[in-house]
Amino acid sequence: MKIKKIQNKNTFRFFNYKWKKVPTWAKDTDKRYVEWYLKRYGYKNKKNFTKFLKNKKNILEAGCGLARDSRLFASLNKRANVYACDQSLVALKHAKKDLKKFKNIRFFRQDITKKFKIKRNFDFISADQVLHHTPDPGKTLKNLFSILNKNGYLNFFVCKKKNVHRDFIDDHIMNYFSNKSAKQLWDFAEDVTKFAKSLHDLGIKDVKFKGKKYKNLQLFTHYNSFRLWYDPKLKFDLCVSSNYDWFSNNPRYDLIDLKKYLRKNLKKYKIVRKYEDDASVSMIIKKV
Ligand SMILES: C[S@@+](CC[C@H](N)C(=O)[O-])C[C@H]1O[C@@H](n2cnc3c(N)ncnc32)[C@H](O)[C@@H]1O
Repeated sequence: MKIKKIQNKNTFRFFNYKWKKVPTWAKDTDKRYVEWYLKRYGYKNKKNFTKFLKNKKNILEAGCGLARDSRLFASLNKRANVYACDQSLVALKHAKKDLKKFKNIRFFRQDITKKFKIKRNFDFISADQVLHHTPDPGKTLKNLFSILNKNGYLNFFVCKKKNVHRDFIDDHIMNYFSNKSAKQLWDFAEDVTKFAKSLHDLGIKDVKFKGKKYKNLQLFTHYNSFRLWYDPKLKFDLCVSSNYDWFSNNPRYDLIDLKKYLRKNLKKYKIVRKYEDDASVSMIIKKV
């Protein structure tokens, strides 16, 4: 199967639609995503992260969506200038409204694959859950690295390769929807989520396969067949949006790919941390 290359125009239209559908996504998932951020990037808790942020005067969140992470940075370092950018005007409008009490956050529209309009460099850049949505993550990294100060840190994340079966079916679905409307994709994601919920609600627990134990049948299917996310603790529409995101444009990478991108595109950097779990690869690099 020939996979169509990611195109910004698709990423942009799919995300604009998503932010209209779930404008409360950041608020509703804040606690769990902040915890996940602190774990993946190794800060463990807010106290350590506050220490890290203390001398970061200018901070950029690239591809901020509803700017949940900017909110965290701005609240842990009130003296920092936090800049939050995204291509999506819909996301920026909601984020601005929700975070208006944070006077140290500025929002601007920017395609992060293009030269930055803003004339300043940053001490800390975070691009979480974004790079894999851009057509060439290595080049996007290079673009972000070019506006990072010496001794500055860049945190980034990509989705991780799963197994051949799961990646194949995900690609098949993504390929199909690449020239369909956002509504058609949303409707499909809704059906998939109903299926995921039904599997979950069967109550079949502890599925053992290839030396691994999955909490239930839905999670076994999710990790081994195709994207089939459901979490009973989240509102149904948020589960839909998570499946929708995935099917919209979501290539996967591993640590080897990431290191290759770094070698090819950057000079004078040091890998400070690398972290992998079932779903993601996260890395911190420092400009030296
Ligand atoms: C999965 S969301 C993540 C949002 C946020 N970082 C978070 O963790 O909640 C990906 C975001 O990246 C943005 N994005 C994708 N490609 C972009 C680009 N080329 N330039 C700017 N933003 C982009 C999308 O609009 C979307 O808001």
